[in-house]
Amino acid sequence: MVARFGDWLDERLAWRQVWQVIFLRKIPKVNWLYTLGSASLFLAINQIVTGILLTIYYVPTPDHAYDSVQYITTQIPAGWLIRGLHHWGASAMVVVVALHMLRVILYGSYKFPREVTWLTGVVLLLATIGFGFTGYLLPWDQKAYWATTVGTRIAGTPPLIGDMVLRIVRGGEELSAITLARFFGVHIWVLPTVLILLIALHFYLVIRIGISAVPAREE
Ligand code: HEM
Repeated sequence: MVARFGDWLDERLAWRQVWQVIFLRKIPKVNWLYTLGSASLFLAINQIVTGILLTIYYVPTPDHAYDSVQYITTQIPAGWLIRGLHHWGASAMVVVVALHMLRVILYGSYKFPREVTWLTGVVLLLATIGFGFTGYLLPWDQKAYWATTVGTRIAGTPPLIGDMVLRIVRGGEELSAITLARFFGVHIWVLPTVLILLIALHFYLVIRIGISAVPAREE
């Protein structure tokens, strides 16, 4: 019954061919370091799922942000777990994505024909850091407020454009409700869109080009 439904779908969607290309493709003999990319994907999915759950109760205004986070942590069933997974997952993702990049550098996997895969990776790393920076403000506690005060001041240090950058990032001279709304918007709309599109392109390239082999030792 299931097999017949599978055949029926395959005639219409050719899904077996897609499955073959993604999961049954031939790869060179690799080692555990090659799992870091998939680990990055796993962490990205964890961030998306737990992040969506957090938005059900989180309120992005100075009056309610702090209380809503406390409410999630102490009152919602498994709220502490969802928040914990999102909080620690964020740090883990930065570390794992950086380790994946280090593997790519050490094995020279960024070279021809994988330059575009590398470039999409660079933007993915920037997006991951951007998630961390914008997400840090959202609990709206003392640590969040002052860390973002310092972080945005650093963004405002380049000569000539610094002042403008600072105003754009903060939405004014000081941190305010506008900053919180802005960071929240970037955190849940802009960066996830960038992340999902770039992961799709990254994977298309990884599958199309195939992954690099472990470099051979010079004799
Ligand atoms: C959310 C972040 C990322 C995800 C989900 C991701 C995922 C993956 C996966 C699953 C692979 C297949 C091989 C492997 O796992 O090693 C891969 C390969 C690759 N990634 Fe990433 N990646 C990310 C970030 C990055 C970054 C930051 C860079 C570098 C700046 C990068 C550059 C590359 C390159 C050049 C390859 C091809 C490697 C080869 O053929 O050996 N990726 N990526």
